[in-house]
Amino acid sequence: MVKRVFSGIQPTGTMHIGNYFGAIRNWVSLQNEADCIYCIVDYHAITIDVDPKELRTASQSMALDLLACGIDPERSILFVQSDVPTHTELEWIFGCVTSYGDLSRMTQFKDKSDKQEFVSAGLFTYPILQAADILIYRADGVPVGEDQVQHLELSRRIARRFNSRFGEYFPEPEPIVRKGARIMSLADPTSKMSKSAGEVHYVGVMEPETSIRKKVRSAVTDVGLEVGAAMSPGVANLFEILELACESVGDTATVAELKTEFADGKLLYSRLKDTTFERLMDVLRPIQERRAKLAASGNVVELLQAGARKATKIASATMVDVRRLVGLGTSA
Ligand code: TYM
Repeated sequence: MVKRVFSGIQPTGTMHIGNYFGAIRNWVSLQNEADCIYCIVDYHAITIDVDPKELRTASQSMALDLLACGIDPERSILFVQSDVPTHTELEWIFGCVTSYGDLSRMTQFKDKSDKQEFVSAGLFTYPILQAADILIYRADGVPVGEDQVQHLELSRRIARRFNSRFGEYFPEPEPIVRKGARIMSLADPTSKMSKSAGEVHYVGVMEPETSIRKKVRSAVTDVGLEVGAAMSPGVANLFEILELACESVGDTATVAELKTEFADGKLLYSRLKDTTFERLMDVLRPIQERRAKLAASGNVVELLQAGARKATKIASATMVDVRRLVGLGTSA
């Protein structure tokens, strides 16, 4: 059983159904099992070029999205990363127990740096900050999608290196990866759904219904398969989304029905798409309605600042211990 959960999401770009099914849905359910700390990682967002005016708005907007999805500030700590700047102090210290070789093996760095003209050092050291985010709270469970598992392995290695050099202190955080951990793009089902790939590649959680319908209806499938053949990536992805959505709304019959039709070679992909769209909207509609109400209530800044105060308390206590263990500063 994990005792303390930490996870983060970047504020830039809209939350998409990959984020939701792969991570946020689990953030919500873990609130019933553990102490949860959830962070909007604006320091991570500036590893690439972002407009400063948009960044603050984006962080607040992401907070509203998370609250609408069911993050409960009474039970969880929700805050913006840079409101607790000790994350970066711990990052520096962790940078001194992280090897260059380990960082160069990070596949996300390779993917992201390929797409940038200017590759910042921050993009390279990104996973060290991620380890600091988690370990400053000494969290032992981290709900994430599959793309973050390699970063989590590095976080564990950093915890081990710190402990062996300075004394046993940090737990080794475990990734919590559940169903839906790798939702693919509807337009290109061989690549992961992501915010950065462009509009057609993701379905936003807050996107208007008409636009979601259009995207689901134009999802790439195949030209029809022989009976008994394995599903093509696009069809498998639609089934995965359908299954997750059905599970969320307690529909136990639809997936089995459509899978039987598929196995018998009778499934029309238009039916698969329409059903997926309908179930998906059953999940998203109430979230979108809550989001509209929350935006009107207008107290998100206070709420995030209260979260940051709670997070600061825990993070500061860790840093007192860390400075002592490492031999930094003048106070005992
Ligand atoms: P980010 O903002 O890219 O994504 C947030 C969460 O969504 C998951 N995710 C997906 N899951 C399933 N299918 C997909 N297509 C998909 N795309 C994204 C991600 O795995 C993630 O869990 N580096 C992190 C943020 C971070 C963090 C942390 C996470 C910073 N510090 C500490 C955990 C712990 C990131 O960029 O996530």
